[in-house]
Amino acid sequence: MRVVTIIPTYNERESLPLTLGRLRAAVPSSDVLVVDDNSPDGTGVLADEIAGTDESVHVLHRKGKEGLGAAYKAGFRWALERGYDVLVEMDADGSHQPEQLPAMLDAVSAAHLVIGSRWVPGGSVVNWPFHRKLLSRAGSFYSRMMLGLGVRDITAGYRAFRRETLERIDLDSVDSVGYGFQVDMTFRVAQEGLKIVEVPITFVEREYGDSKMSGNIVLEAIANVTRWGMAARWATLVGRWRKPNHASS
Ligand code: GDD
Ligand code: MN
Repeated sequence: MRVVTIIPTYNERESLPLTLGRLRAAVPSSDVLVVDDNSPDGTGVLADEIAGTDESVHVLHRKGKEGLGAAYKAGFRWALERGYDVLVEMDADGSHQPEQLPAMLDAVSAAHLVIGSRWVPGGSVVNWPFHRKLLSRAGSFYSRMMLGLGVRDITAGYRAFRRETLERIDLDSVDSVGYGFQVDMTFRVAQEGLKIVEVPITFVEREYGDSKMSGNIVLEAIANVTRWGMAARWATLVGRWRKPNHASS
């Protein structure tokens, strides 16, 4: 099983070396792809330096900040072209502990998508202010209701995909820019009828640098979830209305 861990970065100069060091120690068999959006703080240059000393580390440079979704799509394409069997998503800031990756990789042998989950028994968040916890739980709850999904941590960013899972999804049509990308991908995997498993994780808030979460990211996610939920309901209604007609004709 060839594994690659994809780490999107924007201004993560302090965190990236620490996270890479921990990841290489915890799961030496995983290759790494850093996807940097031309970070002004020089994270991309630093990533190149590390890649120069460790042949398992690769760097994809993008021209500017185009959002988490765009970075992951580019990273997925890079990894699929190179034949990896499992594609892991991990934040650069240490919130996703590399030491918890082996449990997720164990689970992915029997699932199409494994989500490192804060909101299942055994999962937790360390050092998040009340408003972030509320936002995450409310966002997951609203998405779960609108989209009819059973997943508890829909926006989670610590994930392991089997390559077949990503091959089933039309990545070109995924246009969520911000963290709603995670909800988008979860919904698409579920719509394909594929198996999603949540593994509890302890999410530890970053020590260095700043979160890139913004009001626009939240608004994009709410608007998209509402739109997808309405469209799915509409499709169900039309389906119900059509069936009896077909039966009688
Ligand atoms: N390349 C690139 N481009 N990377 C980005 C961009 C971007 O536009 N925006 C964010 N990132 C990177 C950050 O550098 C970091 O490695 C990771 O994406 C997560 O960004 P944070 O800003 O640390 O996210 P967070 O801690 O506020 O949000 C966490 O919770 C969200 C909601 O549950 C993350 O786990 C998200 O993945 C999750 O969706
Ligand atoms: Mn973070």
